[in-house]
Amino acid sequence: MDQKTNTLTILTYPEPFLKQLTLPVRNIDGTLQVLIDNMAETMYAAPGVGLAAPQVGVGQSFLVYDIAVDRDHRDLRVLINPRIVERSGEVISENEGCLSVPDFRADVKRASQILVEAVDRDGNPLRFEAEGMHAIVLQHEMDHLSGTLFIDHISALKRQLYKRRVMKEIKHR
Ligand code: NI
Repeated sequence: MDQKTNTLTILTYPEPFLKQLTLPVRNIDGTLQVLIDNMAETMYAAPGVGLAAPQVGVGQSFLVYDIAVDRDHRDLRVLINPRIVERSGEVISENEGCLSVPDFRADVKRASQILVEAVDRDGNPLRFEAEGMHAIVLQHEMDHLSGTLFIDHISALKRQLYKRRVMKEIKHR
Protein backbone atom coordinates (compact mmCIF):
# COMPACT_ATOMS: atom_id res chain seq x y z
CA MET A 1 0.00 0.00 0.00
CA ASP A 2 1.29 3.40 -0.91
CA GLN A 3 0.72 5.46 2.16
CA LYS A 4 0.99 9.22 2.21
CA THR A 5 3.28 10.49 4.91
CA ASN A 6 3.19 13.85 6.61
CA THR A 7 5.84 15.80 8.38
CA LEU A 8 5.02 16.58 11.98
CA THR A 9 5.73 19.63 14.09
CA ILE A 10 8.84 19.21 16.22
CA LEU A 11 8.47 20.54 19.76
CA THR A 12 11.35 22.68 20.95
CA TYR A 13 12.83 23.67 24.28
CA PRO A 14 11.43 24.87 26.70
CA GLU A 15 8.24 23.00 25.78
CA PRO A 16 7.30 21.16 29.03
CA PHE A 17 6.16 18.03 27.16
CA LEU A 18 9.80 17.28 26.34
CA LYS A 19 10.46 16.82 30.08
CA GLN A 20 7.86 14.10 30.55
CA LEU A 21 8.45 10.40 30.98
CA THR A 22 7.01 8.27 28.19
CA LEU A 23 4.81 5.22 28.63
CA PRO A 24 5.69 1.86 27.11
CA VAL A 25 4.09 1.01 23.77
CA ARG A 26 1.45 -1.67 24.42
CA ASN A 27 0.10 -2.26 20.91
CA ILE A 28 2.01 -2.19 17.67
CA ASP A 29 -0.98 -1.28 15.55
CA GLY A 30 -1.74 0.65 12.37
CA THR A 31 -1.87 3.95 14.21
CA LEU A 32 1.65 3.38 15.50
CA GLN A 33 2.91 2.41 12.03
CA VAL A 34 1.56 5.65 10.55
CA LEU A 35 3.17 7.63 13.36
CA ILE A 36 6.49 5.88 12.75
CA ASP A 37 6.37 6.68 9.03
CA ASN A 38 5.49 10.29 9.72
CA MET A 39 8.27 10.59 12.27
CA ALA A 40 10.76 9.15 9.79
CA GLU A 41 9.59 11.65 7.15
CA THR A 42 9.93 14.47 9.68
CA MET A 43 13.44 13.35 10.63
CA TYR A 44 14.60 13.15 6.99
CA ALA A 45 13.03 16.50 6.15
CA ALA A 46 14.62 18.30 9.12
CA PRO A 47 17.22 16.81 8.42
CA GLY A 48 18.29 14.89 11.49
CA VAL A 49 19.76 11.50 12.38
CA GLY A 50 17.20 10.61 15.02
CA LEU A 51 13.79 11.53 16.37
CA ALA A 52 12.02 10.32 19.50
CA ALA A 53 8.24 10.25 19.96
CA PRO A 54 8.08 13.02 22.63
CA GLN A 55 9.65 15.42 20.13
CA VAL A 56 6.46 15.25 18.08
CA GLY A 57 4.18 15.34 21.10
CA VAL A 58 3.67 11.60 21.51
CA GLY A 59 4.20 10.30 25.05
CA GLN A 60 5.16 6.77 24.12
CA SER A 61 8.44 4.95 24.20
CA PHE A 62 9.70 4.65 20.64
CA LEU A 63 12.15 6.34 18.30
CA VAL A 64 13.43 6.37 14.74
CA TYR A 65 16.98 6.93 13.55
CA ASP A 66 19.19 6.63 10.51
CA ILE A 67 22.94 6.93 10.81
CA ALA A 68 23.73 6.00 7.20
CA VAL A 69 26.51 8.25 5.97
CA ASP A 70 25.13 8.22 2.44
CA ARG A 71 21.82 10.01 2.71
CA ASP A 72 20.72 8.68 -0.68
CA HIS A 73 20.56 5.19 0.77
CA ARG A 74 18.23 5.31 3.71
CA ASP A 75 18.71 2.87 6.54
CA LEU A 76 15.73 3.61 8.76
CA ARG A 77 15.74 1.90 12.11
CA VAL A 78 12.88 1.84 14.58
CA LEU A 79 13.19 0.96 18.26
CA ILE A 80 10.12 0.38 20.39
CA ASN A 81 10.41 0.28 24.19
CA PRO A 82 14.21 0.39 24.00
CA ARG A 83 16.44 0.17 27.03
CA ILE A 84 20.14 0.18 27.66
CA VAL A 85 21.03 -2.95 29.60
CA GLU A 86 24.78 -2.36 29.76
CA ARG A 87 27.05 0.59 29.20
CA SER A 88 30.82 0.81 29.21
CA GLY A 89 33.61 3.21 28.38
CA GLU A 90 33.40 6.94 27.98
CA VAL A 91 33.49 9.17 24.95
CA ILE A 92 32.98 12.87 24.37
CA SER A 93 30.27 13.43 21.81
CA GLU A 94 31.54 16.57 20.10
CA ASN A 95 29.13 19.25 19.04
CA GLU A 96 26.04 17.26 19.84
CA GLY A 97 22.82 18.86 18.66
CA CYS A 98 19.09 18.20 18.77
CA LEU A 99 16.13 19.12 16.58
CA SER A 100 14.33 20.17 19.77
CA VAL A 101 17.19 22.44 20.84
CA PRO A 102 17.68 24.62 17.77
CA ASP A 103 20.83 26.63 17.12
CA PHE A 104 22.83 25.13 19.94
CA ARG A 105 25.57 22.53 20.14
CA ALA A 106 27.70 21.25 22.97
CA ASP A 107 30.10 18.47 23.91
CA VAL A 108 28.43 15.74 25.93
CA LYS A 109 29.95 12.86 27.87
CA ARG A 110 28.50 9.53 26.71
CA ALA A 111 29.20 5.84 27.16
CA SER A 112 31.29 4.57 24.27
CA GLN A 113 29.56 1.18 24.10
CA ILE A 114 26.05 0.14 24.98
CA LEU A 115 23.99 -3.02 24.89
CA VAL A 116 20.43 -2.33 23.83
CA GLU A 117 17.22 -4.32 24.06
CA ALA A 118 14.12 -3.25 22.19
CA VAL A 119 11.41 -4.42 19.85
CA ASP A 120 11.31 -3.53 16.16
CA ARG A 121 8.26 -2.19 14.34
CA ASP A 122 7.10 -5.72 13.57
CA GLY A 123 7.27 -6.70 17.21
CA ASN A 124 10.46 -8.76 16.91
CA PRO A 125 12.76 -8.58 19.92
CA LEU A 126 16.14 -6.96 19.31
CA ARG A 127 19.33 -7.17 21.33
CA PHE A 128 22.49 -5.58 19.96
CA GLU A 129 25.66 -3.72 20.83
CA ALA A 130 26.30 -0.23 19.58
CA GLU A 131 29.44 1.84 19.65
CA GLY A 132 30.78 5.14 18.35
CA MET A 133 28.26 7.34 16.56
CA HIS A 134 25.61 4.62 16.79
CA ALA A 135 25.91 4.49 20.59
CA ILE A 136 25.86 8.27 20.90
CA VAL A 137 22.73 8.68 18.78
CA LEU A 138 20.92 5.96 20.71
CA GLN A 139 21.82 7.41 24.11
CA HIS A 140 20.62 10.82 22.93
CA GLU A 141 17.32 9.50 21.53
CA MET A 142 16.65 7.20 24.48
CA ASP A 143 17.23 10.15 26.83
CA HIS A 144 14.25 11.84 25.13
CA LEU A 145 12.06 8.92 26.20
CA SER A 146 12.78 9.74 29.83
CA GLY A 147 12.38 13.49 29.46
CA THR A 148 16.07 14.30 29.22
CA LEU A 149 17.62 16.65 26.69
CA PHE A 150 21.32 16.79 25.85
CA ILE A 151 21.50 20.20 27.49
CA ASP A 152 20.65 18.47 30.77
CA HIS A 153 24.11 16.90 30.55
CA ILE A 154 26.05 20.18 30.23
CA SER A 155 27.00 22.69 32.89
CA ALA A 156 24.21 24.70 34.50
CA LEU A 157 25.93 27.88 33.35
CA LYS A 158 25.93 26.89 29.68
CA ARG A 159 22.34 25.71 29.92
CA GLN A 160 21.35 28.99 31.55
CA LEU A 161 22.95 30.95 28.73
CA TYR A 162 21.05 28.97 26.16
CA LYS A 163 17.79 29.34 28.07
CA ARG A 164 18.26 33.09 28.29
CA ARG A 165 18.85 33.29 24.54
CA VAL A 166 15.72 31.24 23.78
CA MET A 167 13.56 33.32 26.12
CA LYS A 168 14.77 36.49 24.47
CA GLU A 169 13.90 35.11 21.04
CA ILE A 170 10.42 34.09 22.24
CA LYS A 171 9.83 37.60 23.58
CA HIS A 172 10.82 39.16 20.27
CA ARG A 173 8.59 36.93 18.17
NI1 NI B 1 17.27 15.22 20.33
